[in-house]
Amino acid sequence: MAIQLGDEAPDFTAETTEGPIHFHQWLGSSWGVLFSHPKDFTPVCTTELGRVAALKPEFDKRNVKVIGLSVDPLGSHKEWANDIKETQGHALNFPLIGDSDKKVANLYGMIHPNASDTATVRSVFVIGPDKKLKLTLTYPASTGRNFDEILRVIDSLQLTAKHKVATPVDWKQGGDVIIVPSVSDADAKTQFPNGWKTVKPYLRIVPQPK
Ligand code: BEZ
Repeated sequence: MAIQLGDEAPDFTAETTEGPIHFHQWLGSSWGVLFSHPKDFTPVCTTELGRVAALKPEFDKRNVKVIGLSVDPLGSHKEWANDIKETQGHALNFPLIGDSDKKVANLYGMIHPNASDTATVRSVFVIGPDKKLKLTLTYPASTGRNFDEILRVIDSLQLTAKHKVATPVDWKQGGDVIIVPSVSDADAKTQFPNGWKTVKPYLRIVPQPK
């Protein structure tokens, strides 16, 4: 069965462009993003990896470790890294798993046989410091992902892990948020002493907590 939100992210050992890793140990107390690519030396993947390398400081700021995967061998990843640096202006600055035996791809359900028997789809898994899955995304090979959106979701996940709020449509860091329905008005008075706006009894808007 596919792994689902709230499940423990499967642990594994793997060879990466930065040496062998034991996944849970490598994550330590950080958040994690594990994302897969269909193949090395493919155009969309090349742009995605360059973009993630450019965004590395943003992931670091949020205490998130990023790790990529494709089912090609490490030697191929290392050659491809030269192209990524040359064409995208950013060298790989995070590990890329060489998963030629598809061990990790199968563990995470990254191969969708009706899309391709051999290549991984574009999966994204966001993993919390408790090693539980907080987000899964699946894109087809033909559509590059938007990593600003992944950062936006991480901001929401980190905020909602700390406060009893949820984030509305198109929310961005600093925008108003919603008090979760399980908090009564009486409890909300203690948690949000500066008050909130009641649009409907179930839709209570409050500035983003610090
Ligand atoms: C790509 O990454 O460019 C790609 C990979 C597989 C199919 C189509 C595009």
